Amino acid sequence: MTDRRCVCPGSFDPVTNGHLDVLARASRLYDEVTAAVLVNPGKSGLFEVPERIEMLREVTAELGNVRVDSFEGLLVDYCRERGIPVVVKGLRAVSDFDYELQMAQMNHRLTGLETFFVATNPEYSFLSSSLVKEVARWGGDVGGLVPDAVLARLRGRIDPTRRQTPDPT
Ligand code: PNS
Repeated sequence: MTDRRCVCPGSFDPVTNGHLDVLARASRLYDEVTAAVLVNPGKSGLFEVPERIEMLREVTAELGNVRVDSFEGLLVDYCRERGIPVVVKGLRAVSDFDYELQMAQMNHRLTGLETFFVATNPEYSFLSSSLVKEVARWGGDVGGLVPDAVLARLRGRIDPTRRQTPDPT
């Protein structure tokens, strides 16, 4: 029987409309999609992992078949332990390709985990969580680039004097 489950991994710090587009498209192709947030002990983000998970749950709730989880360690181990056979990732531009291909090939070599790439909606091809944070940190408008629930939380983090918040990333 075909296992129609996939995982969409990432840092999601925070989830953007580009992520959401990939999650929504995966959710139409698979019975169950897991958005898996990487826990990276060596790198603190703007949002703590529980808050990233909360935002992801909020913005994917209406899709109906997206669950949100976190993982530490290798993605292949996370998928193997749960019997999830496929990773779905968005490709924004050629610049994403080299590294994504390398990871996909390594993951396949390690456990046979497959990776399917989705061509990102061109509306979001320039979009990344890092740029969103940088623009928001300096008071720039990131409306339309992140879900409204994320926008509200980002605004809550921004110093009204527009000084940089103490985010080490
Ligand atoms: O949103 P990001 O930071 O681009 O996502 C990168 C992520 C989490 C997908 C990638 O770093 C990953 O899978 N990390 C888990 C550790 C791992 O499996 N490393 C080996 C990859 S071949």
